Amino acid sequence: MQIVSTINEVRAQVKEWKREGLIVGFVPTMGYLHEGHASLMKRARLDCDKVVASIFVNPMQFGANEDLDSYPRDLEADAKLCESIGVDLIFHPEVEEMYADGFCSFVDMNGLTKELCGKSRPIHFRGVCTVVSKLFHIVTPDKAFFGQKDAQQLAVIRRMVKDLNMDIEVVGCPIVREEDGLAKSSRNTYLNEEERKAALILSKTIRLGEKLAEDGMTNAKELVAAMKENLEKEPMAKIDYVEAVSMDTIEKVDKIEGNVLVAMAVYIGKTRLIDNFIIGGEKNADTGIEK
Ligand code: PAF
Repeated sequence: MQIVSTINEVRAQVKEWKREGLIVGFVPTMGYLHEGHASLMKRARLDCDKVVASIFVNPMQFGANEDLDSYPRDLEADAKLCESIGVDLIFHPEVEEMYADGFCSFVDMNGLTKELCGKSRPIHFRGVCTVVSKLFHIVTPDKAFFGQKDAQQLAVIRRMVKDLNMDIEVVGCPIVREEDGLAKSSRNTYLNEEERKAALILSKTIRLGEKLAEDGMTNAKELVAAMKENLEKEPMAKIDYVEAVSMDTIEKVDKIEGNVLVAMAVYIGKTRLIDNFIIGGEKNADTGIEK
């Protein structure tokens, strides 16, 4: 496995692979890898001849009061995990390599980013779209793999790829959970013992929402209210949002019909965690998010 830090090195290697007619898969990450990332890389390993992973904590997608400086980093452990899965190349650039002096071009999106995380993190998706489109231009993958835990991000990336005619297949992969239900996240590492226990309220509330929907609740407001009420039982939980939105447009829905994404962001202490589930449609042609 190669670890490279310059755009030229990635381009040279990928060009060679493409000359040989090989299919290149790409998993963009911010590092501090866990089994969620591993599942994306394993899927890429299965689907593609060569697998590239990027490890880059992208400053542009963090707001002023967010956790950019404290975001966990461990390149050595990340490299070991990638190697064990059979990743062929890690791209680990410095900030200056990605954002050269005078950088002033951005990729922004008008739809899909107003609700959910876009509401509480107003500049987040501009940062994500900009860095992901840069990475796509650098790596030029045939397929790119994203987790459903960041369901809004997955929908946004699909829309960007479609709108900007990028010749890349975006593959959505299911949420990976700890045995007790907590969705895997690099940010789980911020939780102390007490907070880790309290964080279970997220997955418990997801299960409650799934059950209510399965039992026939179709009023989105009622579903969201029941989920909020459940979250409020945990004194350490502070709700950022719980919303039911259309999977295609990420706009609020009144009624649970078609493909609906029910998503939440909740602070446990200072740590903001997200989780979600999808109602309807095993696989939506537009968003491709698998249940
Ligand atoms: O999901 C993430 O880790 C990041 O948002 C991504 C896609 C790597 C872009 O920085």
